[in-house]
Amino acid sequence: MHATGSMLPGSLCKMKRWNKPHLPPLIQPHDRTQLLKIAPNFVFLSKLVAGGNLRLGEYVGKLICVIGNKGGTGKTSITHMLCHGFGLLGMRSIAVLTDTSREPLFRGDRGYTPLDGRTPDQLEKILAKMETMPEWIAVIDGGANRPEMDKQLYEIANLALLPFRDSHEDIRTVRHDLESFPAAYGVPSQWPKNPWQQMAAEHTLDELMQDYRPRLLEPVYTVSSSKLLLETKVPHDLPTVLNNVCRGLAKQALSKLESE
Ligand SMILES: Nc1ncnc2c1ncn2[C@@H]1O[C@H](COP(=O)(O)OP(=O)(O)OP(=O)(O)O)[C@@H](O)[C@H]1O
Ligand SMILES: [Mg+2]
Repeated sequence: MHATGSMLPGSLCKMKRWNKPHLPPLIQPHDRTQLLKIAPNFVFLSKLVAGGNLRLGEYVGKLICVIGNKGGTGKTSITHMLCHGFGLLGMRSIAVLTDTSREPLFRGDRGYTPLDGRTPDQLEKILAKMETMPEWIAVIDGGANRPEMDKQLYEIANLALLPFRDSHEDIRTVRHDLESFPAAYGVPSQWPKNPWQQMAAEHTLDELMQDYRPRLLEPVYTVSSSKLLLETKVPHDLPTVLNNVCRGLAKQALSKLESE
């Protein structure tokens, strides 16, 4: 097992799920001042508010974990893509590194803040701080082969995501993880863009994942520029294709958080 794989800080183990802050009352579409105070991207949020019974309070102080036992499925990429997407939607987020085999990244020009949570101490500090910053979303990047750590992150998170690629090996593992974490969602990751490969991938899902279809998010397609987000210095202007994929992923996560 991983060096820090076994433990979240003791106090966190006792938490069942994220300690939810007090929810503000339902915000009406016309209440722009309050909306603007909470999130600068008024257009996106006001559309959501106008379209349904969105309580902005349900978006605050949220914890998402990106976990799964298999290596290389896209946990780190999905973590950063989600945070980048939240940034594009005008929301504040942190990407928390817990994998000791990776080096921490820095904010620079990013629209979100990467933080180093590789030791239980660092992680506890970050999560405690999150409780004082209710408008922020934390996305925790898990590490492969850490079933105990995954269990603990799942327990405290509002939303657990399990990326998997279009391979029998990934699918076998994610089926097992979906059984172990009954409230988690699978995220088809690095999904093919080529129509023929896509058809084959869909066929594989029909064959091996039919029962889990309702628990799958829309695929996150292969975007070669996603690796830019994992570089130390991120370019100021990122390709539109990457921005669109990140925005789409962030919206999906928000809708799952809303229905939590
Ligand atoms: N949507 C994507 N499009 C293109 N490449 C991707 C995408 N997602 C991930 N990758 C690439 O796949 C590789 C593995 O991704 P990543 O490091 O995010 O996986 P991981 O699950 O965090 O791995 P580990 O288990 O080692 O932590 C990386 O080279 C990454 O750039
Ligand atoms: Mg990783």
